[in-house]
This record gives sequence, structure tokens and C-alpha cells, in this order.
Amino acid sequence: MAPHLLSFVLVLVVIAAAACVRGSSGCPTLDRDALLAFRSALSEKRLGIFSSWTGDDCCSQWFGVSCDPTTGRVAGISLRDESEDRIISRSGRSRGLMYGRISPEICRLDRLTTLILADWKQISGPIPPCLTSLSFLSILDLVGNRLSGPIPNDIGNLSRLTVLNVANNQISGSIPTSILALSSLMHLDLSNNQISGPIPGDFGNLRMLSRAMLSRNRISGSIPSSVGHMTRLADLDLAHNRISGEIPGSLGSVPVLSSLYLDSNRLTGQIPTALFSSRGLGILNLSRNAVEGEIPDVFGSHSYYTALDLSYNQLRGPVPKTLVTAAFVGHLGLSHNHLCGHIPTGSPFDHLEAASFANNDCLCGGPLPVCK
Ligand SMILES: *[C@@H]1O[C@H](CO)[C@@H](O)[C@H](O)[C@H]1NC(C)=O
Ligand SMILES: *[C@@H]1O[C@H](CO)[C@@H](O)[C@H](O)[C@H]1NC(C)=O
Repeated sequence: MAPHLLSFVLVLVVIAAAACVRGSSGCPTLDRDALLAFRSALSEKRLGIFSSWTGDDCCSQWFGVSCDPTTGRVAGISLRDESEDRIISRSGRSRGLMYGRISPEICRLDRLTTLILADWKQISGPIPPCLTSLSFLSILDLVGNRLSGPIPNDIGNLSRLTVLNVANNQISGSIPTSILALSSLMHLDLSNNQISGPIPGDFGNLRMLSRAMLSRNRISGSIPSSVGHMTRLADLDLAHNRISGEIPGSLGSVPVLSSLYLDSNRLTGQIPTALFSSRGLGILNLSRNAVEGEIPDVFGSHSYYTALDLSYNQLRGPVPKTLVTAAFVGHLGLSHNHLCGHIPTGSPFDHLEAASFANNDCLCGGPLPVCK
């Protein structure tokens, strides 16, 4: 071998050795092996997204995989079926489907910060409990699959978690109380599963939480009054559950609450006055419960409702006169109660239809027949 060729080979050997330590573009062999094990428990043929998962360069060549530029470790897996808009509009093909399970081998990626495996419809099996050992995990988004079994008990170990979304699956069991330890959690979506049991009493400890979506489950018990401590809570959706007891007045002191869905539950007692005194609440749905008593007559210029639905309850007494002073009321639902008396005149009553007031005991005027 000629000397210059020999030195060229030597240089190659040095480069190759360096690549073994760090991977040619920062993908360590252990991470690559974990990804391949994760991939082998899944199959997706329509879009062929795993066909790029070959070769050594998992950090830049593998679809949906990203690495931390400093450590070179795998930090993100982001596989979301976003094919709907793109593909249906072009060729009429349906969405991608991914089958299989989430392999516990994924827990070897101990620097993972983001795991998104969303809207694949057919991924089944449990959420691997070992995910709770991934101490860097910040986003866990498994929405829109067929995952079953419980939320792992040690979920509270994920102290950096900001997003927990397991909506639209078949998750059962109760909400682990360890969830209260997720002090960074901003977005919690457990909607549309089979979750039962109560909302943990200290739910209000989740001080960073801004969206709490728990609708369409089998959650029972009452709404913890600790929710009043949640200074960042903007959206609370507990609709379509089996929640009973009274609506805590403390909800009226949540400063940025803008939507509150409590419809289709088993709530009783009176509507707390504080709820209607609160500023910023734009959507309130209490429909299909068993709340009773009179509707607090405390509306005013602070009231701006795109939707205020109190239909299908046991409310008595008159339609509140102060609604006339509200800044805006778009949709108003008062039907199927036991209200009685004159419907006030003026806005918003001049643009509402009879359906807003149907099936009460003795309402009259406005869009209903004139009072006798
Ligand atoms: C969660 O934290 C507890 C207490 O530190 C520990 O005993 C447990 O093993 C942790 N769970 C996991 C899955 O890491
Ligand atoms: C309120 O909830 C009920 C029952 O879940 C639903 O039928 C109704 O459409 C909702 N109202 C509004 C204004 O969205």
C-alpha cells in the first residue's frame, strides 16, 4: 500500500472510531437499538413512515425522530397522523393507520423529552408503566389510539411533564393521585375514555394547569372545591360523566376561567352566585343535571356569554332580569326547567327563539305566547 493511501485509511479509521462513540450524526447505538425495538412492535404500511428508519443516522434521517444537539441523545419521537387534510383532499384516500403496541423498550431512551404517537387509531395495549421513569419527559401525547389499561400509577414521577394527553382511547381505572405531583402540568386531556372514580380532592394543587379536559368518562364523586385555587385554569371540561354533589362556589374565583362544561352529569343544589359574578366566563354549560332553585340574578356589564346553557335542570322562579344588562348573550338555553313568569324585554331576549324557553312551567311573553 502506498504511504499516502495508508494515511488516508488511517484517517478513515479515526473518523469511524469517533462515529462509533457519538454515532455519525449523534445517534448513539443504544438509542438506535431502542428505537428499532420500539418500531418492531408497530406496523404502518399506508404512509410508509417507518421506511426511513434505516441506517445509522437516526437523528436526522429517521422520520419523526430528533436528538438533543448538545448530548446527541434521542430527545423526541413525534409521529402524528396528519394525513387527513393532505391526503383526503388530493386523492380521497383515508387516513394512515398504525397497528401494534408501545414497546417498553422505548423506556431505554432515558433522555426523551417528547413522545407523540397520535391519531393512529389502532395502536392498542397498555401505556407502558416504565414511561414514568423517563425523568426528562415533558410532552406525552398518545391521543386517538386504542390504548387500554390504566394511567400508570407513578405518573407523578414525571416532574417535568407539561402536556399529558391520552384522550380518545380506552383507558380505564381511576385518576392516580400521584398526578397531583405534576407541578409543571399545563395541559391535561383524558377525554373520551373509560376512566372511573373521583377527581382527586387536591386537584387544585395543579397550579400551572390551564386546560383540564376530563369529559366523556365515568368519573364520579364531586367537584373538589380546591379548583378555586387554580389561578391559570382557563378551560375546565367535566361533561358527560357521573359527577354529583353541588357546584363549588370557589369556581367563581378562578380568575381566568373562560369555558366551563359540566353538562350531562348528576349535579344538584343551587347555582352558586359567584359563578355568574365571575368575569371572563364565556361558555357555561350546566345542561342535563339536576340543579335547582332560582337562577342568580346577578348578570351585568361583566357578563359576556357566547353560550349559557342551563337547560334540562330543575330550576324554578323567573328568568333573571339582569340578563338585559349583560354585555352579550349569544346562545341562551333555559328550556326544560320549571321557570315561570314574564320573559324580560330587550336584548338579548329580542333575538332569542322560543326553543330557548320551551318546556317550562309557566313562562310567557317574548318569543312565547303573550302573558295573560
Ligand atoms: C417513582 O418514584 C418513586 C419514589 O421516588 C420510586 O419508588 C418509583 O420506583 C418511581 N417509579 C418509577 C417507574 O420510576
Ligand atoms: C350543552 O350540553 C348539552 C348536553 O351535553 C348539549 O346537548 C348542548 O348542545 C350543549 N350546549 C351548547 C350551547 O353547546
